[in-house]
Amino acid sequence: MEKLQAALSKARTARQKTGGPATAVPVTSRRQQVPKGSSADDPTPAWEELQRVDLAPAVLRRHRIVSREATSDATPFDILRTKIVLQMEQNGWTRLAITSPEPNSGKTTLACNLALGLGRQSSMRSMLFDFDLGSPEVHSFFDLKMRYGLPEVIIRNVDFAKQAVRVTENVAVSVSPHPERDPTRFLMMDRTVDLLDEVQREYAPDIMVFDLPSALSSDKALAFLQHVDCALIVARAEQTRFRNLDRCEMEVAANTNVLGVALNGCRRSALSANDIN
Ligand SMILES: Nc1ncnc2c1ncn2[C@@H]1O[C@H](COP(=O)(O)OP(=O)(O)OP(=O)(O)O)[C@@H](O)[C@H]1O
Ligand SMILES: [Mg+2]
Repeated sequence: MEKLQAALSKARTARQKTGGPATAVPVTSRRQQVPKGSSADDPTPAWEELQRVDLAPAVLRRHRIVSREATSDATPFDILRTKIVLQMEQNGWTRLAITSPEPNSGKTTLACNLALGLGRQSSMRSMLFDFDLGSPEVHSFFDLKMRYGLPEVIIRNVDFAKQAVRVTENVAVSVSPHPERDPTRFLMMDRTVDLLDEVQREYAPDIMVFDLPSALSSDKALAFLQHVDCALIVARAEQTRFRNLDRCEMEVAANTNVLGVALNGCRRSALSANDIN
């Protein structure tokens, strides 16, 4: 782990020297902030309208979602959550993307664990969106059998209030139950940006988490990052290649603030917690 951090820091220094994007967290987000609307003053009625579903413990366990209760298995995700919340609060940020250099790094596992971990903060309201539209998985991780997905909400075939559900009192989830044939077009639509702004005004979530495709898989996934305040990059121990992680960090930093790199799948003897730098 120390080796990885040292290598990343060396690569960042080299980039800064050559005028490339630095990854130090700037004080303000690069996207235009959404002003709070009148309903955001008391978003409770809007939240209460969202359908409440109960999650099955066996399904969560099967998908390695361990953060619904404060057990020792949840501790690494709780540490990560606390660091994320602190950094985002300090910067006045509300939108967090989860991405990775390559597929299969643990993005969805981390996003779902983070969402349920945030749910244990009773003073906060959080939302998880499955924007990995070509290969969505959040619905299966939570076993949500939804008829409509985010694309239908984006093209206004269905209201967000009818499509999103609450999986705990204070965590709402908007899933995409069917893979889209042309997923990238939704990531770039003006309607997508409008929807996110509307949801933010109406529901005033403290944190919106976006499960995205891997960053090096498409330019448009990277472009979507302009609509968030910051991104967490998930690398998978013994799988992610350093040169891809370095490239991913550089590409993500060109579009949003890099909150850190979480190393997933470390052996317990090496490090039991995901690490955010
Ligand atoms: N720390 C871990 N230890 C063991 N298995 C893990 C770990 N994290 C994730 N997995 C498993 O690895 C697989 C991929 O995880 P996940 O779907 O979260 O990755 P992803 O980055 O979202 O993948 P994709 O790029 O396909 O969206 C899943 O079967 C998941 O249960
Ligand atoms: Mg995924």
